[in-house]
Amino acid sequence: MSELKPQTGMLEGQVAFITGGGSGINLGIAKNMAAAGAKIAICGRTFEKLEKAAEEIREHGVDVFPVAADVRDLEAMEKAFVETKATLGTVSIVVAGAAGNFMSKVEDLSYNGFKTVVDIDLIGSFNTAKAAHEQLKETKGSIIFISAGQSLDGYSHQAHVCAAKAGIDKLMKTLAIEWGPQGIRSNSIIPGPIDGTEGMKRLSSPETLPMLIQSVPARRLGSVNDIGQAAVFLSSNLAGYITGAVLPVCGGQTLGGSGLFNFAADQFHKPAK
Ligand code: COA
Repeated sequence: MSELKPQTGMLEGQVAFITGGGSGINLGIAKNMAAAGAKIAICGRTFEKLEKAAEEIREHGVDVFPVAADVRDLEAMEKAFVETKATLGTVSIVVAGAAGNFMSKVEDLSYNGFKTVVDIDLIGSFNTAKAAHEQLKETKGSIIFISAGQSLDGYSHQAHVCAAKAGIDKLMKTLAIEWGPQGIRSNSIIPGPIDGTEGMKRLSSPETLPMLIQSVPARRLGSVNDIGQAAVFLSSNLAGYITGAVLPVCGGQTLGGSGLFNFAADQFHKPAK
């Protein structure tokens, strides 16, 4: 299932701009969008990392533009969008995916630690949307925010991420309302635990991995293609009437509110003969 590639040509003629596109989930999105025919701009802090990722995306035979900019810097983002338009054409798909994360309890988290994640995730998403707006208006395009389960509930050691991701989803919904009349759609994806990503490295360990998989109703980690294909769908005409939506692509993991009950029921409930 996760090896499926989106239908060739589904995003033909589109230009996608993806922040955090140098690695992980966002690079997976970039590759899936490239396989669907879109030209790709990947944006991140380190040009060398972007250039390496661009080589991998070029294997899909589309034009790729690596553009270095920090999402925390609005002027730099505006410049990156102008350069992308000049290089690839007017942007019609935006993925605000750049994020930072680490585990810390609030009592060990400094003001700057909290602010750093809010700056990258929330302010960075705001800057990306602001810088993209004129081009999205021109193309009647769409923006996808990469949210997280932390947007939905409290998570231990993740106050900074919970605050930032909840903010992102409210920003996403407000943009759906404000920009809907301009023909722009705005949605979020909530990825579950995705194999081989920086996020997995930071949030789990070999010891906790079996427990983590057990907490996912689909009983497996997701792949970057699982997220990439959902992003292709959400930015395609197939999703033309979907806006303001939070789409969990998580194997059911965000249904975990009843996780402890489910675990206990699986372990201890014996059906009556
Ligand atoms: N625990 C507590 N505080 C931490 C921390 C940790 N594990 N890691 C960083 N911080 C704090 C720092 O101490 C600093 O605060 P201080 O000035 O009060 O000491 C603040 O966060 C900023 O750290 P810094 O390393 O200067 O920030 P940065 O901008 O270089 O990096 C991070 C941002 C911290 C988010 C970094 O982990 C990063 O760049 N991550 C990108 C990749 C990533 O996280 N991917 C996963 C996404 S799910």
